[in-house]
Amino acid sequence: MSHDFAQNFSLADRTVLITGASSGIGAHLARIAARAGARVVLAARRLDRLEQVARDVEWECAQVLSVALDVTDRASVEAAFDAAEARFGVVDVVLNNAGIGNGQRPLEISEEEWRAMLATNLDGVWRVAQVAAQRLAKAGRGGSIVNIASILGLRVGNGYSHYCAAKAGVVQLTKSLALELARYRIRVNAIAPGYFKTEMNAAFFESDKAKSYIRDLIPMRRLGQLHELEGPFLLLASDAGGFMTGSVLAVDGGHLVSSI
Ligand code: NAI
Repeated sequence: MSHDFAQNFSLADRTVLITGASSGIGAHLARIAARAGARVVLAARRLDRLEQVARDVEWECAQVLSVALDVTDRASVEAAFDAAEARFGVVDVVLNNAGIGNGQRPLEISEEEWRAMLATNLDGVWRVAQVAAQRLAKAGRGGSIVNIASILGLRVGNGYSHYCAAKAGVVQLTKSLALELARYRIRVNAIAPGYFKTEMNAAFFESDKAKSYIRDLIPMRRLGQLHELEGPFLLLASDAGGFMTGSVLAVDGGHLVSSI
C-alpha cells in the first residue's frame, strides 16, 4: 500500500481558527496553516494588530478572515465562531493559543493577578474548546483541537505558580476532553513548548541571567525557533495525527529531561 505522506499533513478544505493570532506562536502557525492549504480565521482582541498577519496569510494564497475575540468573554467567543461559520462554515481545527505569561513571586500575587492568569490561560482554553466542540458535534463533524500548554504545566519554575497551575489545568483539560469528545470524532491534543523567544518573554531572554540559564538547564543549550513548532502542530491538526488524542507533545530541546 502506498501512502501520500504530504497529503496526510494537508489542511486543504479545513477551516482553522487560531486564538491570539496577532503575535508570536499564533501568528507563525497561522502562516503555516495557510501554507498547508487551510482557510484561516485569525482571532485576537485587537483587529488592527491582525492586519500584517492577515497580509502574510494571504501571501500564502489562503482565504483569511480576521475576527475580534477575547477568550475571557463568552459572547465574544460565540461571535467569533458565528463570523467564522458565516464565511467558511463550521470550524474544523482550533489552535487554542492565546495566553499571558507575566511572572510574579508567590507571596506577591494579588487576587486580580491570579484571576487574570486563570481566566485567560485556563478558562479561556476551556471556553474556546467547548464552543468549538459544541458546534462540531451539532454539525455531526469530527475535528481537532490543539491546545498550547507549556512545559510549566508539567514541571515548575520560579515566579510562575499561577501560570504553572493554569497550564497544568490545560494538560488535564486536554486529556479529559480527549476522553469525552472521542465519540464525536473530535481529537484533543496539546503542545507543551519549552522556551521560544516571543513578545511574552523577549526582554527576559536578552538578559545575562537568561543566557546562563539556557546554557545550564536546557540540554540542547538554546531557545526553540518558531519553525520547530510547525511539524507538531500540523501532525496534531491534520489526518497525519488521526489516531492521536489526549497527547501532550513536548517541544523543548530536552528541557523536561534536564538532569536533577
Ligand atoms: P505572545 O504574547 O506573542 O502571544 C500571546 C497572544 O495571546 C497575544 O497575541 C495576546 O494578545 C493574546 N491574548 C492574550 N490574552 C488574550 C485574550 N484574553 N483573548 C485573546 N487573545 C489574548 O506569546 P507567545 O509566546 O506566542 O504565546 C502563545 C502561547 O504559547 C501562550 O499560551 C503561551 O503561554 C504559550 N507558551 C509560550 C512559550 C514561549 O516560550 N514563548 C512557552 C510555553 C508556552
